Amino acid sequence: MARFTLPRDLYFGKGALENLKNLKGKKAVICVGGGSMKRFGFLDRAQKYLEEAGMEVKLIEGIESDPSVETVMKGAAIMQEFGPDWIVAIGGGSPIDAAKAMWIKYEYPECTFEDMCKVFGIPELRKKAHFVAVSSTSGTATEVTAFSIITDYEKGIKYPIADFEITPDIAIVDPELAETMPKKLVAHTGMDAMTHAIEAYVSTANSDYTDPLAIHAIEMIMKDLVPSYNGDMEARHHMHDAQCLAGMAFSNALLGIVHSMAHKTGAIFADYGAHIIHGAANAMYLPKVIAFNAKDETAKKRYGVIVDYMGLGGKDDDEKVANLIKFLRDMNDQLNIPHCITHYGADSYPTEKGFVPEEVFLERLPEIAKNAIADACTGSNPRQPSQEEMEKLLKCCYYDTEVDF
Ligand SMILES: NC(=O)c1ccc[n+]([C@@H]2O[C@H](COP(=O)([O-])OP(=O)(O)OC[C@H]3O[C@@H](n4cnc5c(N)ncnc54)[C@H](O)[C@@H]3O)[C@@H](O)[C@H]2O)c1
Ligand SMILES: [Zn+2]
Repeated sequence: MARFTLPRDLYFGKGALENLKNLKGKKAVICVGGGSMKRFGFLDRAQKYLEEAGMEVKLIEGIESDPSVETVMKGAAIMQEFGPDWIVAIGGGSPIDAAKAMWIKYEYPECTFEDMCKVFGIPELRKKAHFVAVSSTSGTATEVTAFSIITDYEKGIKYPIADFEITPDIAIVDPELAETMPKKLVAHTGMDAMTHAIEAYVSTANSDYTDPLAIHAIEMIMKDLVPSYNGDMEARHHMHDAQCLAGMAFSNALLGIVHSMAHKTGAIFADYGAHIIHGAANAMYLPKVIAFNAKDETAKKRYGVIVDYMGLGGKDDDEKVANLIKFLRDMNDQLNIPHCITHYGADSYPTEKGFVPEEVFLERLPEIAKNAIADACTGSNPRQPSQEEMEKLLKCCYYDTEVDF
């Protein structure tokens, strides 16, 4: 038996934000990030719509990128005091994910961060509040997913909270919000979405319900991501929908080890001055993981199907897998994303000497590999890596060497 869960309502297309006017309730908090939503006027509009709906509104502002456990606890305390019946999160994956975790703590004040991280172990929510997610980036699809990614900075590790309880009640996918994204954000979030769709399609939890969503998302992202990056606003709008379709797929089919590795490498080198941004990490690791997973016959066949839909050609599945890897690497080139950590600069752009020194990488490698294997996304990967294999795979992602095991 399996389960397929999505938000009760999804509003999409230009002007969808206005649906906030139709919420029924007394008090709403708006959770928002560092300033882009305010700067471009979306925060004011959201607040105005909620006030038109007759609600008292309180803002929880300044949620940082890759939000911390502390931010979650602080926001939950504000919610406790204010007592909202609606939580409206607006922005990229970071403020929406933080708001989801705040929601758990608001409903269950005794719940610790450790409790939240028990996969599919969240108690029943919606006793105090319902949740609206309004996405402004085209990648994480957190507006429709059962996930929230919170970083424990003491450990330098990202933890996925996973439970259908935190799937939002309402998703608003308004492409106007995505128009203001800078190029780099378009590239990273777009490759995050591509990774979601491909990992969901080959996941061991894939189903006839998730496959069409994943395939259609892949076809759209293949067509629209690079033009969107180059400023084509129609393509930008399509990308906003495509990433959401990918989210519907992976929220129900789960992901794989590209995400396990991205979660465990993202913040671990922060003491050397930067993060490996989630979407960029995925973009670099995805071709390597495809080569690794393709040693599993079922996965290889499914990559072959993806390639057929993409129209990339190939006389057999081996050739198709090679074509897929080449296509994705070319996409990284067009999006100015490096191929490996060695060439990943502190600004995320390709550079001769990246910000992660080799000796630091090698010293931390066994621990990173161990943590990646333990990540919640590993269980549904089509091939289960041993500690030795995961270390080898991470090395291929560091040096951009071929995966031949
Ligand atoms: N919950 C999930 O299912 C899921 C899936 C994948 C990733 N994630 C997590 O989501 C986080 C990344 O989210 P993200 O990639 O959406 O970025 P983000 O939310 O961290 O935002 C990145 C930056 O972009 C700015 N920004 C956002 N929207 C903008 C817009 N429309 N115009 C201009 N600037 C804008 C923000 O202010 C911020 O400075 C990571 O923590 C990642 O691990 C979650
Ligand atoms: Zn992701």
